[in-house]
Amino acid sequence: MKRIIINGANGYVASNFINDLLLQNFEVVALVRGNETKPAEMRMKKAMVDINEGSFVKPDNLKIFNYSLLDDNFGIPEETLEELFDGEVDYYHFAASLKYDFKAKDEIFQTNMDGVQNSVRVFSKFAGKESRFFFISTAYSCGKFDGLFEEKFYDIADISEFRNYYEQSKRYAENLIRKHMDEEGLKGHILRLSQVVGNSRTGVTVTDYGIFDFARRIQSLAARNPNRTVRVKVDPESTQNLIPIDTVVTYLMQTVKVQNLPVIMNMVAKQAVSNRFILKALCDLLPINLVPQVDLDKSEMDSYERIISIGMSFTSSYTGTNLLFDTRKLDEALTEEVSEMSEDAALRMLEYFLGKSSDKKAKVAC
Ligand SMILES: NC(=O)c1ccc[n+]([C@@H]2O[C@H](COP(=O)([O-])OP(=O)(O)OC[C@H]3O[C@@H](n4cnc5c(N)ncnc54)[C@H](OP(=O)(O)O)[C@@H]3O)[C@@H](O)[C@H]2O)c1
Repeated sequence: MKRIIINGANGYVASNFINDLLLQNFEVVALVRGNETKPAEMRMKKAMVDINEGSFVKPDNLKIFNYSLLDDNFGIPEETLEELFDGEVDYYHFAASLKYDFKAKDEIFQTNMDGVQNSVRVFSKFAGKESRFFFISTAYSCGKFDGLFEEKFYDIADISEFRNYYEQSKRYAENLIRKHMDEEGLKGHILRLSQVVGNSRTGVTVTDYGIFDFARRIQSLAARNPNRTVRVKVDPESTQNLIPIDTVVTYLMQTVKVQNLPVIMNMVAKQAVSNRFILKALCDLLPINLVPQVDLDKSEMDSYERIISIGMSFTSSYTGTNLLFDTRKLDEALTEEVSEMSEDAALRMLEYFLGKSSDKKAKVAC
């Protein structure tokens, strides 16, 4: 069986992928950055314990290595890399800075561009000709493009065409892969994910990204000031493209098994969830009345609305979007049935997440 090498392995999406790979007996090499107090092995095991609701015993088919994304040979001895990349390998580059604030530009580009460049360098030096390089990108590399975002390369563009540097850095990185494919024959693939959420069947949600970050802020406000009416600057008719983690893992597992894959696939939900539904769900679950008001101006906000608005500095750029993604290549290549996102699933995730958030708070208070 081929070996699967994954960097950023302790992250949310990667660790869920690794869980399934291990269950299906693939040999997995997890590259994790560690430090003196928290070595790579400890950090990886913690990620696996978290997603397995408390229990995980490291199987023999998982090998964990400390690495440094930007260093020569990742800071790993050459002989070790020669062994790891020996034979047929699928390599998945997950590591990324998911920061969005404009101040973090340098860190974002260093991780999401220089890190990818170094990853390709290490891969090209040690991997055999048949090995494949998968770059985990984002569907939001579409930026402010309005139209059907196709499964093809789009040229690099100015920051004014994106909502933040994260989106722009991913577009740049995709083009970096394209250059190595064109010039050196790199066997590259780009997998573009939309907003990854919890498990569609169980509702288990251990990410606090995107709408869950928003939900947590609303929960905290509702706990301190119950039963308030709060206006939020959100277009209720706009939508969020939420892809369940179990769906992402089903897709990723197929990328390992299918030999002939398209270069680019948009791994997004077929059905988006409206902001109206998300706000209503929050009102049903929490003692708060949220009123969407798309033209709400800062000068009209009360202090609570202002706090929510500041906390929405990231989510707000996505509250007026109705993005359209082409998935024909994905659908042709990856034919296994997947769980589709639905309003019921979104509600289950919010219920779980908000319940879990209170548990966490209760624990801290004890
Ligand atoms: N989650 C989503 O909704 C979503 C949507 C679209 C695309 N994606 C893409 O999917 C991938 C995984 O996302 P995720 O949600 O699983 O993120 P995550 O949980 O934050 O994981 C990110 C991983 O990248 C690593 N990393 C960050 N900076 C690094 C650096 N300088 N050197 C080495 N490692 C570094 C992190 O390591 P540390 O733990 O050491 O920081 C972590 O292992 C990313 O490429 C992301 O852009 C995610």
